[in-house]
Amino acid sequence: MAKTFPTLFSPARINTVTVKNRIVSTGHDTTLIHRGRVTDDLVAYQESRAAGGAGLIVTQVAGVHETARYTSHILMAVDDSVIEGYSKLTAACHRHGAKVFAQLFHPGREIMEGQDGTVPVAYAPSVSPSERFHTIPRALPLIMIEEIIEGYAQAAIRLSSAGADGVEIVASHGYLPAQFLSAAVNRRSDTYGGNEENRRRFLEEVIDRIRNATNADFPIGLRISGDEHDPEGMGAEVSLRTIEAVQHNIDYVSVVAGSSASLGGAAHIVPPMAMENAYVAPFAAIVKSKVSIPVMVTGRINQPQTAEEVVQSGQADFCGMTRSLICDPEMPNKAASDPENIRACIGCNQACIGHFHKGYPISCIQHPETGRELTYGRVTTTSSPKKVIVVGGGPAGLKAAAIAAERGHIVELFEAAPQLGGQALLAQLLPGRSEFGGIVTNLSHEAKRAGAKISTGITVDVNFLNQSKADAIIVATGAKPRWPQGAEIEDNTHVVDAWQVLKGDVNVGAAVLIADWKSDWIGLGLAQKLAEDGCRVRLAVNGLHAGETIPFYVRDIAAGKAQSLGVEIIPYSRLFGADGNTVYLQHTANQEPIVFEDIDTLVLSQGHEPEDGLVDQLSGYPGQVLMAGDCLAARTAEEAVLEGLKAGWAV
Ligand SMILES: Cc1cc2nc3c(=O)[nH]c(=O)nc-3n(C[C@H](O)[C@H](O)[C@H](O)COP(=O)(O)O)c2cc1C
Ligand code: SF4
Repeated sequence: MAKTFPTLFSPARINTVTVKNRIVSTGHDTTLIHRGRVTDDLVAYQESRAAGGAGLIVTQVAGVHETARYTSHILMAVDDSVIEGYSKLTAACHRHGAKVFAQLFHPGREIMEGQDGTVPVAYAPSVSPSERFHTIPRALPLIMIEEIIEGYAQAAIRLSSAGADGVEIVASHGYLPAQFLSAAVNRRSDTYGGNEENRRRFLEEVIDRIRNATNADFPIGLRISGDEHDPEGMGAEVSLRTIEAVQHNIDYVSVVAGSSASLGGAAHIVPPMAMENAYVAPFAAIVKSKVSIPVMVTGRINQPQTAEEVVQSGQADFCGMTRSLICDPEMPNKAASDPENIRACIGCNQACIGHFHKGYPISCIQHPETGRELTYGRVTTTSSPKKVIVVGGGPAGLKAAAIAAERGHIVELFEAAPQLGGQALLAQLLPGRSEFGGIVTNLSHEAKRAGAKISTGITVDVNFLNQSKADAIIVATGAKPRWPQGAEIEDNTHVVDAWQVLKGDVNVGAAVLIADWKSDWIGLGLAQKLAEDGCRVRLAVNGLHAGETIPFYVRDIAAGKAQSLGVEIIPYSRLFGADGNTVYLQHTANQEPIVFEDIDTLVLSQGHEPEDGLVDQLSGYPGQVLMAGDCLAARTAEEAVLEGLKAGWAV
């Protein structure tokens, strides 16, 4: 271990706490919370990251005051009921040698949702609206400021008594302490507003109060954004001056980017694959040159090689590798023994922050065991190995093969195409999405490593399967593009589908209309690609807006790109028909026509329909026949991998 990544795997101290390596799982909401408290699911989730070798686990935000409930599933530390569950969590992580720090949190005006469908009152330093959630907060009265500051101290005492090795104040991402720091948001004229010194007072009092409530040995960290990427947010200069001003009373600083307050800023909270690996490290290096406390940096550090570079070059002392650990809890241990087998996070944001935004438990598109540790955390081997044939080598088939083989079955996978990957091979061709191909690399590797025999370029038919005498057949044959039923498209219209364009099999004219029924990655990605190729692009989305069904931060970056490229977006539209250069759309709410008469090529992105013919032919097959992924119902890679997992367990 020490040989390959010597700095990453060297211990380092934060105050009196020695962390065994530099790999940190930074605070992240998991939605594995029930009524504000830690669940057994969360304990199992964090324990698996500790067992996988993470040196430090910073637990998710814990509300310090009743007004901190920014979602219906936030962990709360406002009374002693937090202690029991949190104690289980710290004990479970400590068993594996990981240290645990607890995030202390108040969102200020960044209230995402209420508890019961009603909109709660949001509080902020001033009546400064937040654009992203459209909240107009109330200005905090002095008495509430005092209550909240005391709430931080009381929460620190509770979490420390529950075994936390330290705490971290969340002053990042435009939350309450950052709202006090920002001149544009904090327009108070009392001692908490006005000049920078006054605006810093809230944070300083929070730190002081925690310090006095705990002791000098108890680590207190500060999470702060270098650049909030928000017109009203903090820039790097204020952030740096704040860090310098408080460093004497904190034990480490954790730097990130972004702000919750606007769509542009929020995309940096969990930066998608469109953003560079380790892109916050240059800011961390500046911080490091100005302070004498340890510096942690986070943001798209998804491989130990990158992390080693960051710590070895002295840009930071610790690396947040949060999604790396969501995607592969064993990443640190693998970095030690066989780094080749690390399942690298691809920055798709689909099942981690994507689930959070929908209020569902955390998971990972590539590793659906995440968040489901109590069910699928430990692979049990079979006592009666079966012969298993998997038909189809896309994400569903590969995961099914990997799990079935890992469980001890004799597995053979057949893929008709020359290459494994199915639709993921096309998805990676969309602009800025090449990293998506990592899912194929990772799953193929996992299936092969588990012992599955894999053949490509071979189409298996029902006769072959009948003769195989396999005990179980897992059908994962994917899907094909859907032709829009009901739309009348005349032969004189140049019409192509999204797959053909992506593969480069067809030419398109100068003016294209993309009929985007799914409102997903494909429509927006094709629009970008064709606009960059010089086409005039209209993107007619069936949804309320482009990218309606994809993870928010991915959507917002793509929407910004489309706007800069001059893509014209037509929401609420249904493809009605086409005749020559005229494309007829219908408004989905009022059914009125929307007509474009100058279209050279109509590009169909209408979703997919299952390739499930083989299953019908297998009716009466004497063994088990299971289906996984798009051949069951066309959805996304996430469902495909999850169903592959379930099929692998079901044989
Ligand atoms: C599901 C999810 C929830 C998050 N919630 C929090 C949070 O509670 N507190 C916080 O400071 N950051 C939160 N983050 C941001 C992460 O701590 C981290 O900064 C981000 O994932 C980028 O790091 P990475 O590229 O290593 O994943 C969250 C991230 C994810 C994926
Ligand atoms: S869902 Fe995507 S972004 Fe999230 S951890 Fe998994 S691979 Fe990474």
